[in-house]
Amino acid sequence: MKPIFANDAAINQAVDLLRQGRLVAFPTETVYGLGADASNPDAVLRIFLAKGRPVDHPLIVHIPNVASLDAWALSVPESAQQLAAHFWPGPLALILKKRPKVPLEVTGGQDTVGLRIPDHPIALRLLQAFGGGIAAPSANRFCRISPTHARHVQEELGDAVDMILDGGACQVGVESTIVDLSGSQPKLLRPGHITRDQIEAVLQTQLLLTPQVAQADAMQIRAPGMMAIHYAPITPALLCSATSLAAIIADLIKQGKKIGLLTCHTDLSNDSHLGAVIRMPAQADAYARVLYSSLRELDSLHLDLILVEQPPQTELWRAINDRLTKATGVYPNF
Ligand code: TXA
Ligand code: MG
Repeated sequence: MKPIFANDAAINQAVDLLRQGRLVAFPTETVYGLGADASNPDAVLRIFLAKGRPVDHPLIVHIPNVASLDAWALSVPESAQQLAAHFWPGPLALILKKRPKVPLEVTGGQDTVGLRIPDHPIALRLLQAFGGGIAAPSANRFCRISPTHARHVQEELGDAVDMILDGGACQVGVESTIVDLSGSQPKLLRPGHITRDQIEAVLQTQLLLTPQVAQADAMQIRAPGMMAIHYAPITPALLCSATSLAAIIADLIKQGKKIGLLTCHTDLSNDSHLGAVIRMPAQADAYARVLYSSLRELDSLHLDLILVEQPPQTELWRAINDRLTKATGVYPNF
């Protein structure tokens, strides 16, 4: 399916398709979403088929305004009101207890539902014109890199999607921060552009961290293959520290490997032994914006290996380190 420039006529056509239970990919500020009418279980099942995603993985429902929270959430705690007021529209998804009418197909059988108002003019126009909730995971095949350009959606899903609205490049570049407010204490399920510090400042309380989120804290050394691979390129990718980079490259070149490199501290752009080098931005926001398109670019070059130089490990970089940890293994013996 070819992406279509998202003018009014295209948005109206997208609304018609959603009402017919079809799939529409659309831009958000984070990544492109693969949308279906969240109140239509058959439409929602199409999402899982198109992505090749297990049906017990819950979807985020995108809503047009804060007033719509009540239509999906059984109750809206004070904490949800506060976070919505501060960060919506924006790259934050809230997990709340669901109303009985929310299809279990959307929530992966759980009694909670993920909700967010995206901060993107096209997504908002689509949501307002549609009037209901749009269930939308990232518009990639299961376990692959999320799309940040309309052409990535086309590459990932081909004709499994009925329409692709083109809104250019996504500005945030990594998926939304997810905070679970359905339990007794707020919990960070997925780090994103909105940081733990920002959320804690609004809630005036500490967030619990899931073990997976906590693990990306210190990039503990793991054996490759131990982690669930998510957001991953097809080419094997390895994360290595700045200090070990030169030795690792020398070792791999000796083995005759074709290597692509994503650097952030070290400038190796003139190293002729390397298949391709992408020098990443030094600021976390700018790095996140181009992370997935850079991985895709290296992935398209048929290299033996992608090496990613470990970026800084401060709170601002948590979402990036989380995604890199999931996309890569760790170089053995270094
Ligand atoms: O930025 C984003 O959130 C993008 C754009 C399109 O909005 N969407 C996105 O969706 O990243 P997806 O499906 O790729 O990731 C949604 C995540 C999954 O990890 C899922 O487990 C979690 O949200 N999630 C959704 N509903 C949940 C629930 N009720 N309980 C726990 N986790 C939930
Ligand atoms: Mg995803």
